[in-house]
Amino acid sequence: VLKQSITSKAQKENKGYGNYVQPQASYKVAILGASGGIGQPLALLVKMSPLVSELNLYDIANVKGVAADLSHCNTPSQVSDFTGASELANCLKGVNVVVIPAGVPRKPGMTRDDLFNINANIVKTLVEAVADNCPDAFIHIISNPVNSTVPIAAEVLKRKGVYDPKKLFGVTTLDVVRANTFVAHKKNLRLIDVDVPVVGGHAGITILPLLSKTKPSTTFTDEEVQELTVRIQNAGTEVVEAKAGAGSATLSMAYAAARFVESSLRALDGDSDVYECAFVQSDLSELPFFASRIKIGKDGVEALIPSDLQGLTEYEQKALDALKPELKASIEKGIGFVQKKA
Ligand code: NAD
Ligand code: LMR
Repeated sequence: VLKQSITSKAQKENKGYGNYVQPQASYKVAILGASGGIGQPLALLVKMSPLVSELNLYDIANVKGVAADLSHCNTPSQVSDFTGASELANCLKGVNVVVIPAGVPRKPGMTRDDLFNINANIVKTLVEAVADNCPDAFIHIISNPVNSTVPIAAEVLKRKGVYDPKKLFGVTTLDVVRANTFVAHKKNLRLIDVDVPVVGGHAGITILPLLSKTKPSTTFTDEEVQELTVRIQNAGTEVVEAKAGAGSATLSMAYAAARFVESSLRALDGDSDVYECAFVQSDLSELPFFASRIKIGKDGVEALIPSDLQGLTEYEQKALDALKPELKASIEKGIGFVQKKA
């Protein structure tokens, strides 16, 4: 992100990025829920992207000040603010990537599924507007429970006749970011080198880090596998408890979401080497949606990466079998929510 934040020729030369060619800022990004705990730092990080020409910020309140503040940063994108349902359509027109962190976060003692009743309606309404105004956009869903909100978004898009499964992503980047951090610390590896695929879904035991597929190739004792897996699965709860009622992860989530936005923009811009984990429509398991590594191209998901699921350890295979019933139920709950509506 730092390298990509270099915005002027003078800055570039001062930093000594000799052959770094400034990409053309030409993409439009919208953030729905932009004045929230995730929305604000995410907007800042996206404002630093040299690929973004327009940054549209939408929320039901407090977005004017956030946009005024951000607009003073001397980076390429023009920032615009949109408040309330009457301004949502204008926010979305012509947008290439829509990021949705709108909705309520957890408090201690809650599961992500406890957010379903409020967030399901919020995601449904926002995705209906996306379908009407920018049906070709990449849609990044952050609002929890991701295991249900992504199927909700898919059903809404189907009903509107504009569902493109290649362009709908549940954002699970934070699970990968956490896995990389925890593994690097535990094994004394350089943070920048470490990559751990995380598959399944985004809640509790449905989050399955595949430690045996860690790059660079690393061996773990059984105790280390158990400890790291449980820590990665409970990392969201670790933050919820530390914040003690003031919400859930926002800063690390904004960092992770910004990485996923930047990867999407690079793919849209023609980079043919973009890989991320995400919760997408999938045929890698018997479940209709599944998080795995994917290759992202100009038209969205270009390929799922099945090799990560081959040659699993016994521990990983058992964990994969164990997560499927919960993930299936969450997916069905999301689909049923939209199908029950008239
Ligand atoms: P927050 O309460 O700080 O911010 C949410 C924002 O959404 C607020 O500004 C609110 O005004 C806005 N909002 C509410 N209803 C809206 C609507 N109808 N249209 C537009 N905006 C609306 O919460 P947060 O900490 O930013 O978390 C947001 C969501 O992200 C939560 O559901 C949380 O569980 C989820 N989350 C997901 C991940 C992940 O890895 N996918 C990580 C962290 C948090
Ligand atoms: C996270 O993983 O941090 C988010 O899903 C928020 C939460 O509720 O834990």
